[in-house]
Amino acid sequence: MSEHWTNYWKQGFLTSFGGGIKGNYQGKLKRLWLDHSKKISPGSHVLDIGTGNGALLDLLQSNHTLDLVGIDRAEINNEISDSINGVFHSKVSAESMPFEDDQFDVVIAQFALEYTDLDFSLSEVFRVLKKNGLFIFVCHNPESIIVKPNEQILNEAKLILKNMQSYIYELSSAMIINDEKSISLKYSMIKDYIENRKRTHIDAIIGTNLPLFLDFLYSNRNKNIDFVEAARQFENELQLLVLRLDELVDASKKSITLINQLKLLNKDIEVREVYENGELIASYVKAIK
Ligand SMILES: C[S@@+](CC[C@H](N)C(=O)[O-])C[C@H]1O[C@@H](n2cnc3c(N)ncnc32)[C@H](O)[C@@H]1O
Repeated sequence: MSEHWTNYWKQGFLTSFGGGIKGNYQGKLKRLWLDHSKKISPGSHVLDIGTGNGALLDLLQSNHTLDLVGIDRAEINNEISDSINGVFHSKVSAESMPFEDDQFDVVIAQFALEYTDLDFSLSEVFRVLKKNGLFIFVCHNPESIIVKPNEQILNEAKLILKNMQSYIYELSSAMIINDEKSISLKYSMIKDYIENRKRTHIDAIIGTNLPLFLDFLYSNRNKNIDFVEAARQFENELQLLVLRLDELVDASKKSITLINQLKLLNKDIEVREVYENGELIASYVKAIK
């Protein structure tokens, strides 16, 4: 599972929203961490779990006194993290952290802890936190505008893999041998399927890239292209999308378990929803050891 995050961070992104956000987080999430950077006591030892390329530490480093550490189970891209004032450890899992007990004044995480095995990671967080230390994290909410639309894309992608993949291969094969009758039949079937799904889930079907791929095939007919190989690549991308989005949806559900477990463990806990332009984007949790 960590392999796709390693490949993702290699591309040089700072946030987990890829090309959707240039540079670091903006808006509410940015303000939230900048506020914390001012409130955290000077000289604090801070650990960021699931740091990726260090987006949160990048925001916190505006407080120059903080001693920042980031860990991630995947490989962190040093070309990005080197410009951030912190110590980064790749291939370190939240479930088993190489730190002494009572090391950190603050442990933070964003869209990360809910991906871990809570049976181990939660006790690790409280082990490495100092007494009265702060545990602050932002996690996915199953009802957020980040998770909901992606859940619909996930459903559409699964349906395509189950019901349409054979037609896509048949169309690609027919295009290689210029079998016009078969091309026209298969093309219409896939086109009709897309139009039908668009009536109820337009953004989701577009999010799978099937409409784009069909346009690519059709606009390149009669060209000397290995269409079957292209169909194979499309299928691989779709499978990767399903893997990534399954993980996201599962993580968002695990956030609820995470918050409930914390409530059981800790009386001193603040939970609130984070909104951006009136839309729910995440949950925010602050707990004290
Ligand atoms: C959605 S990204 C969030 C990255 C960053 N915190 C941010 O806000 O942009 C989730 C990160 O958690 C990491 N991760 C997942 N499971 C982990 C684990 N068990 N231990 C440490 N990191 C983990 C992934 O490798 C990935 O980099």
